[in-house]
Amino acid sequence: MRRCVCPGSFDPVTNGHLDVIERASRLYDEVTVAVLVNTTKQGLFPVEERMDMLREVTEGLGNIRVDSFDGLLVDHCRERDIPVVVKGLRAVSDFDYELQMAQMNHRLSGLETLFVATNPEYSFLSSSLVKEVATFGGDVRGLVPDPVLDRLVTRLRRS
Ligand code: PNS
Repeated sequence: MRRCVCPGSFDPVTNGHLDVIERASRLYDEVTVAVLVNTTKQGLFPVEERMDMLREVTEGLGNIRVDSFDGLLVDHCRERDIPVVVKGLRAVSDFDYELQMAQMNHRLSGLETLFVATNPEYSFLSSSLVKEVATFGGDVRGLVPDPVLDRLVTRLRRS
């Protein structure tokens, strides 16, 4: 079975992430979407809720597992026998850091990284920008999946 991982914070998942996950799901038999548990940085959504949203928006694809991890991505992949990371590249500004991580992951364990060019419709999109715009009442419809939009509005109303 050909497996890959799409790792990230997904706080929350955007339509840009979903585009990359969908494309990975056509290239691989099984895609693990792995949510980083970052103990030093509190996100807007708890990790469990990020995972619930990811399950909800990817259930139609049929070959997605949603998981969480802490520590090194290479360890998570080794434990699950996953040889490839699939990541989206939005712009040149992503390239330096993504290249560094890909090279370090390869050096650490031979983990390969496959980059897909982000759909230009979403090349400006990030979870942090979505949160900032939504916090101040801006319209983020079409930038996040509808179930995420509902939860975003509810959560921001509470905070
Ligand atoms: O959505 P993000 O925050 O851009 O995702 C970054 C992520 C989670 C892919 C990256 O920070 C990561 O892999 N973190 C796990 C820790 C690790 O393996 N660090 C060494 C990378 S070379």
